[in-house]
Amino acid sequence: MELGPSEQQLNGPALAPPDGVVPNFTNPPNQNALGIAVISISLALATTAGLLRVYSRVIVSAKLRIEDCKLLGLIAFAFYAALAWSIFAYIGYVGILVHQWNVQLKNLVEGAHSAFFTTFLYTFSMLFGKTAILVEWARIFVIPGSKRNFFYVASRAMIILNVAIYTAFSLLFILFCNPLEKNWKSWVPGHCLDHRPHDIAIVSVNIALDLFILLLPQKMIWTLNMSLNRRIGFSIVFSVGLLACGTAIGRAYLVTILDYHGDILYELSKTNLLAFVEVTCVLLVFCVPAIPRAFSEKTLLFRVVSALRSWTQQLTSLSTERLRQSNHDTSRFPPTIGSEPNKHIQRVSDEGHSISLADLRLMESQRGEENYSIESTGQGSAERGQYLGKGIVITTQVDQQAETGSRSSVERSIELRQHGWAPPSFTLFPSTQLNSSTAFIFFVHRLAFHPLRNYPGPFLAKLTYCYGGFYAFKGRHHVNTYKNFQKYDIYFNPHVTKGSAYGHSGGPEKPNLFTVRDNAEHRRKRRVIGQVVSDRSLRSFCPMMSDQIDIFLKQLLRSSRQSEIVNMTVACNRLGIDVVGHLAFGCALKTQTEATNRFIPETMFSSIYVNNLYYTWPKLANIAPVLRWIASKKIDLFRHAVEKMIAERTSKPANAIPDFYAVVTGEGGLDRSELWGEALFFVLAGGSTVATAMCGALFHLSWHPDAYARLAAEIRGTFSSGRDIQPGPVLASCTYLRAVIDESIRMTPPSPSPLWRESEVPLSSKSQPFVVDGHVIPPGTEVCIHLWAMMHDPEYFKDPFSFIPDRWLLPTDEDVSGNSKEQELRAIMRRAHVAFGLGDRSCAGKSMAYMETSMTLARILWYFDFDRATGEAGKLGCGRKGSREKWDEPNQFQIYDVLGADHDGPNLVFQPRGKHWQELTST
Ligand code: HEM
Repeated sequence: MELGPSEQQLNGPALAPPDGVVPNFTNPPNQNALGIAVISISLALATTAGLLRVYSRVIVSAKLRIEDCKLLGLIAFAFYAALAWSIFAYIGYVGILVHQWNVQLKNLVEGAHSAFFTTFLYTFSMLFGKTAILVEWARIFVIPGSKRNFFYVASRAMIILNVAIYTAFSLLFILFCNPLEKNWKSWVPGHCLDHRPHDIAIVSVNIALDLFILLLPQKMIWTLNMSLNRRIGFSIVFSVGLLACGTAIGRAYLVTILDYHGDILYELSKTNLLAFVEVTCVLLVFCVPAIPRAFSEKTLLFRVVSALRSWTQQLTSLSTERLRQSNHDTSRFPPTIGSEPNKHIQRVSDEGHSISLADLRLMESQRGEENYSIESTGQGSAERGQYLGKGIVITTQVDQQAETGSRSSVERSIELRQHGWAPPSFTLFPSTQLNSSTAFIFFVHRLAFHPLRNYPGPFLAKLTYCYGGFYAFKGRHHVNTYKNFQKYDIYFNPHVTKGSAYGHSGGPEKPNLFTVRDNAEHRRKRRVIGQVVSDRSLRSFCPMMSDQIDIFLKQLLRSSRQSEIVNMTVACNRLGIDVVGHLAFGCALKTQTEATNRFIPETMFSSIYVNNLYYTWPKLANIAPVLRWIASKKIDLFRHAVEKMIAERTSKPANAIPDFYAVVTGEGGLDRSELWGEALFFVLAGGSTVATAMCGALFHLSWHPDAYARLAAEIRGTFSSGRDIQPGPVLASCTYLRAVIDESIRMTPPSPSPLWRESEVPLSSKSQPFVVDGHVIPPGTEVCIHLWAMMHDPEYFKDPFSFIPDRWLLPTDEDVSGNSKEQELRAIMRRAHVAFGLGDRSCAGKSMAYMETSMTLARILWYFDFDRATGEAGKLGCGRKGSREKWDEPNQFQIYDVLGADHDGPNLVFQPRGKHWQELTST
């Protein structure tokens, strides 16, 4: 009979230390902090998931099944809690990653004792956890009364196997040592079996079972009749088991390299920790699929989370006009959408918020009802016929709605204000607004359940506004969208109202004609401002415009005499702003001849650049003061200049000068408070756009000698003097001139940006669904045409990157009667020329734009010949030599999409033509 260890042995090291190492019992090196962190995090995760599951099952679904929390799951959780306690005890006796020679033998006994129970508790947690999973999944995936399918057979077999194997291992484990006490007191007389085969067997079985649990539902999910993204979504939810597989494999590795006669305590602490994580994962597999239900609409949890989000949103943006506007909109959200009450919205709502296991079975029996087709309303095809198919749904906020209009104010105020593809809270301040589990659910929702998830588009754009914001920063949004067109081929229907992105001005201005979202309000403004650029008004304004063009030509003459290179962007911007200064405020800005106001054309783009950022990435409006501060110098200069113009003008009687101010402040005109915003926009709309049209035309003419020669011949053959070049039938007969302008603004649109539109429903309570290409677009979602991308689409324009004015001179529809294909292509091409936008919100200044551009170009060619500057200077505004991108080739005029088009160049050199220039100096 063996004697127990002496007092001295019990106080000595549990293992002989390596040579030269002195045992440290008082403060042994350890990783206890790490161990406690791992256990605490795991516990927090599993407990949260468990509570959410209970909430979802008991409160939301009012289902309390025996296999749920009540028995199997509950038992699994009980063993899990005991397991946590036992590992904490182990840490207390031994510690994590403590070498055995730093542990006294008496503590080894305690440690081994708790390690024994740890293994035992682990085995039972796994037994009950996995059985609970298999039982529940069998209930979900097997329709009662249906034939015994693969899942039924496989899951039943696995349940039996699971119970049998874990019970066998537990029994074996208990019987390992005889007497039982010998498990932790090695000196007690008796006998123990070799642990290694048992341990290796159990880790191998574990991996096999984990893999099976991982793969079993996948087979079912991928055979269900659901959209691809939805399947991916379910698949992800049911893939939490991957974590369990990972930890099982890690544990298996540790067990195989375990030295049972060496520093075993050190190694055991690692395997025990991993065992705990593995059980946590198994419990997560059990709970996670039920969690989305807990957040589905109408649950208390949903409302609490929503109210919190709404509250934080309101805190950050309550003071802005933008939020007042959007709250106003949401409060008028209609109860129904579509001619069949709630049909589409209800589906959207279901998909958007709830991943219910029980719903899976439901869906299987709803085969074929998965899409949002609008055929039943009969509206899709008719609407679509009016527009060209390609477009893009680029998201912003989706206000989704549940069944009826009788919702609480909390529900109404938060309305799941989500970007169609991007979670607003993530876009700018990820860490401050969402925790990691919300983030997980959010991303799963975005990718797998969002109503717009089926729209093709860049992956990142589904998740965040940063995608668009990044390209807006670069001023290359137009090029990027063009590329997306090539890739994704998205269709659209633009006619509803301006998108809510226009509400994001970041400043206190009232909405202007361009940004106002209420269509009735827009009609009122347009009626007033339209008069400023009406044919009648332009006729009386024409002499003033003509004078400004003459000043421009005189500047060119001066430069030509000194063989100066003229940067046309600078020259045309000055002309544009001088013209609009007169038109808007009867104000002689004289930027063409004097330096004082030259900062105006130089700074005007800063203002719209920042606005463009808000439109593309609305969350940036939250940091409007920061952005304004960054760009403040230029923006303030520009704004002060416009303010000064307004102040000067308002000091004179309204009818003193026939300008914008006189018209809009007349009877039935605009309110004084609206004047500022309108004036600001008017100056930009009228000043920069025409300049871009002229620069584009001059650039392309300088690259295409044939077109140049043909246009020069037309102008010089039509008129007998530069003075005769005035708006009217003779100028209108210059069809090649018009073709050159049309082709230039196609290739270089002065407003290349997306034109956001949104369903009018929230504003007007109409009950027509917003249909784009046969898909119902939820209220609050913005869709757009991207002008630049549209006008570079080879489907509509043959050789879109070639300057071919002749395409606009092709015979009209009547001339090609009999050739219906040709007719159709021409018609499509003309409809796809959308430089001035479409519909009620299209450009109000189109006539003025053509008038100013054609007069200026015709007169340039009457008085001068011009050429591109030689050398490096001649490359200004060109794309890059050797570029692989068509839009970036040297013969393409480079513009930067800042809502308007920013550019530089072309650099041209002018030579006066014959003696015609004398006309210019004679006045
Ligand atoms: C070639 C020159 C021009 C082009 C390509 C152009 C293009 C556009 C575009 C694309 C829009 C936006 C349409 C939308 O949001 O759907 C627009 C709006 C507008 N443009 Fe122009 N524009 C040009 C010149 C002018 C000029 C010279 C003026 C007047 C001085 C002007 C005044 C306006 C106004 C007032 C609007 C707002 C219309 C509304 O929302 O009702 N534009 N323009």
